[in-house]
Amino acid sequence: MTEWGTAGFETRAIHAGQEPDPQTGAVVPPVYQVSTYAQDGVGGLRGGYEYSRSGNPTRTALEECLASLEGGARGLAFASGLAAEDTLLRTVCAPGAHAIIGNDAYGGTYRLFARIAEPWGLEHTPVDLTDLDAVRRAVRPGATRVIWAETPTNPLLTVVDIAALAQVAHEAGALLVVDNTFASPYLQQPLALGADVVVHSTTKYLGGHSDVIGGALVVADPDLGERLAYHQNAMGSVPGPWDSWLVLRGIKTLGVRMDRHCSNAREVVSLLLDHPRVTEVFYPGLPSARGHEAATRQMRDFGGMVSFRVAGGEQEAVDICGRTKVFTLGESLGGVESLIEHPGRMTHASAAGSPLEVPDDLVRLSVGIETVDDLVADLKQALG
Ligand SMILES: Cc1ncc(COP(=O)(O)O)c(C=O)c1O
Repeated sequence: MTEWGTAGFETRAIHAGQEPDPQTGAVVPPVYQVSTYAQDGVGGLRGGYEYSRSGNPTRTALEECLASLEGGARGLAFASGLAAEDTLLRTVCAPGAHAIIGNDAYGGTYRLFARIAEPWGLEHTPVDLTDLDAVRRAVRPGATRVIWAETPTNPLLTVVDIAALAQVAHEAGALLVVDNTFASPYLQQPLALGADVVVHSTTKYLGGHSDVIGGALVVADPDLGERLAYHQNAMGSVPGPWDSWLVLRGIKTLGVRMDRHCSNAREVVSLLLDHPRVTEVFYPGLPSARGHEAATRQMRDFGGMVSFRVAGGEQEAVDICGRTKVFTLGESLGGVESLIEHPGRMTHASAAGSPLEVPDDLVRLSVGIETVDDLVADLKQALG
């Protein structure tokens, strides 16, 4: 991997961790569909592998590539984004600890904190992470172990200032965790801005084709990487070799896909801004967006996610989701195909009644890489 360390992003996406197979010359890492490895005498491992929960060569290729793209010391792949999050929390927190989380975040992440981590003993405080004074006030000296930020957030697309938040976290003796799923490492690299851990749902832009569920952690500190690798093996929520291979294949085209996601999203935003039935548009590229200034500093471009509110309330938002033809109504995001959803009833249903509840007239778009005129025409007819 190291020889690709100074290469450009797209070169690393295609080559880091993915040397041609030494035995056959295969230019793509093989799918090592295997659970165990022959030993030459007890403990005599041939290639460093003994059992595929602990390590698998296809997964290693993915993990090395992820570390390279995020500029980290260690990358670790998981069976899902939430599996990565759970493993991280149980590694860096203990019962009695405290976490600060954003008050706008993926509903499943909130559910993990509220329904799984809280009964285990990890308390959390939801805070507006763009308000650094509020973050400082929420710190519990000696107890706050983690500040957990999504940026841009899901679904309101607020951008938080990673460098400033890292400083607050480190003053408090806490780790800054950044969920980089919406931006992908092509648009934003949180470790270079001072974050300690990057989280991904590789299900999204990294995989990119809506054909795999996966997660990842990338860390700057090799010792933390070691501890996480211990928990990864001990807890066992690892991806299989096929899933690792699918994510790795998706990553090869991440840069070109993201460029198209971003330019298509810009066109969609222009339509929404001019539409009389749209009351508010959420997109980090708008000068009025929360965190726009931070976005211009820390992101290469503004991404492919767009949310908007509509006149007519919840029923109208739900109806619009049912009227599109090119945008498929479905959960998830970050694939080549455009998706539309109603966060209140779908991805964020688990945040209902909590500080993370989302507006009921909100529609979220994952703008894909289809012909942009078709996307704009589809939304026009759905909006009426
Ligand atoms: C920002 C964000 N983080 C984490 C996750 C969880 O990832 P997964 O569904 O792969 O478990 C999601 C899923 O939608 C997400 O949107």
